[in-house]
Amino acid sequence: MSSQTNKFITFEGVDGAGKSTHLAWFADELRQRGPEVIVTREPGGTPLGEQLREILLNQTMNIGTEAMLMFAARLEHIEQVIKPALRAGKWVISDRFSDASFAYQGGGRGMDWNKLSQLEQWVHPDLQPDLTLIFDVPVEIARQRLANNVSLDRFEQEQSDFFERVRAGYHRRVQKNPQRYVVIDASQTPDIVKLKLKEIIVII
Ligand code: TYD
Repeated sequence: MSSQTNKFITFEGVDGAGKSTHLAWFADELRQRGPEVIVTREPGGTPLGEQLREILLNQTMNIGTEAMLMFAARLEHIEQVIKPALRAGKWVISDRFSDASFAYQGGGRGMDWNKLSQLEQWVHPDLQPDLTLIFDVPVEIARQRLANNVSLDRFEQEQSDFFERVRAGYHRRVQKNPQRYVVIDASQTPDIVKLKLKEIIVII
């Protein structure tokens, strides 16, 4: 690793892109190089956040309610988990963060981007991930991967056009702020994706 400064890293992508598998592997690789690493997720990451996750993943609701609950869970997560860990010198890797709200609620559900920006400004005006890895995959491939899951949550049950808009939402976020992101072609084999992740670990 080029620097020992602890970092906040997020993993993003459409459901079925394979990010969660790679996240566990990435965290272990990082730990082997010395730093203390915590792995967390959104929605969730705190007791209240996990309760909100249950509701968000299972209960139909207004789009605005969905967005605000995502950010409510996030506020708890930031204050109780992310900031304390960063202050203690730990690395934090989160399975999803605000980019997912822009991609899913903004892109997928069509919620006004400006309202999401206001929530983002309110909830974390002074915090952004140092690095966000986007696991990018054609929607058709992601859908095929999800087909093996026994139970699908409210988001995973959406149709392909929803995920096309989610994917486009991620791309829109990257275009606005390209230096924060690495877009990984997640349609490649897991071994090739791992090679790419190894390259990233060496330079962060
Ligand atoms: P996900 O992270 O894919 O977990 P799992 O791998 O266990 O299925 O599931 C979380 C879902 O929540 C995912 O479909 C995306 C959605 N989501 C949003 O819509 N907005 C958000 O801000 C976040 C964090 C997640």
